[in-house]
Amino acid sequence: MDEPILRVRNLSKTYMQGKIPVHALSDVSFDVDKGEFLSIVGPSGSGKSTFLSMIGLLDKPTSGSVFIDGVEVTKATDSQAPKIRREKIGFVFQHFNLIPTLSAFENVDIAMRFARVPKSKRKERAVELLTQMGLRDRMNHKPSELSGGEQQRVAIARAMANNPAIILADEPTGEVDTKTRDMIVELLRGLSENGQTILIVTHDTSVSARTRRIIKMLDGKIESDTKVEGT
Ligand SMILES: Nc1ncnc2c1ncn2[C@@H]1O[C@H](COP(=O)(O)OP(=O)(O)OP(=O)(O)O)[C@@H](O)[C@H]1O
Ligand SMILES: [Mg+2]
Repeated sequence: MDEPILRVRNLSKTYMQGKIPVHALSDVSFDVDKGEFLSIVGPSGSGKSTFLSMIGLLDKPTSGSVFIDGVEVTKATDSQAPKIRREKIGFVFQHFNLIPTLSAFENVDIAMRFARVPKSKRKERAVELLTQMGLRDRMNHKPSELSGGEQQRVAIARAMANNPAIILADEPTGEVDTKTRDMIVELLRGLSENGQTILIVTHDTSVSARTRRIIKMLDGKIESDTKVEGT
C-alpha cells in the first residue's frame, strides 16, 4: 500500500477568546489514502472548519503535524505556505468565491497562472476541465451569468486545475438546491473514482451518506470514523 496522501498527527488548535482558551481541535490523528471520498460532519462549533484550515495551510495549529503527499506542510514557513497551497490543495467553498469580473474560463486559468503554468497548457487544461464539468458552452460567461450549480462547477474546475493532492470543500452544497446538490456530489464522487482525494465538510446527511467514509467530530475530537457500506 502506498503511503497515505494525508497524514494528520496529534493536531491541536487552541484559540484565545480574550483570556479564555477555546480548544477547537484536540489531539486529532488520522490518515487518508489517495482517492478517498470522505466527509467530516458534526455539530456547529465542533471544529470542522478549523480542521480544514489547518490542512489547507490557511492557519497554523497550536501543536501537531499534517503531512500531504509525504511533505510535512505544518513545517512550512509563511513564505513557503502559498506555494504548497497552490500546488497541493484545491479549495471549494460554500459561496463559490469566483472572481466576479472574470469569465468561467479566466477563473480556472488564473489558478494556473499563479502556479506559472505556460499559457498553451493552461488553455488546454481549462477547456478540458470545464468540458468535464459540463460547462463547455458556458466558458465565456461571468459568474453573475451562471446559476449557483454552474458557479460551483467552475469552482471545482478551478480547484482541480493544478492537479492537487487533495481537494478540501467546506459546505460545497450549502447554497444550491437539492437537485444541484446531488449533481455536485456525483461530480465529486466521479473525480474520486479517478483517483482525486476529496474531503468534504457538510451538515447535510444526504451528502455525507454518498461519501465513502464519514468522520464525525465532537468538541474538537473525532467521535467516530466509519466506512460507508454499499457506496
Ligand atoms: N478565529 C477564531 N478565534 C476564536 N475562536 C474561534 C476562531 N475560529 C473558531 N473558533 C472557535 O473554535 C470552535 C470550532 O469552530 P469551527 O469554526 O471549526 O466549527 P465548525 O465545526 O466549522 O462549525 P460550523 O458547523 O458552525 O461551521 C468554536 O468554538 C469556535 O467558536
Ligand atoms: Mg464551519
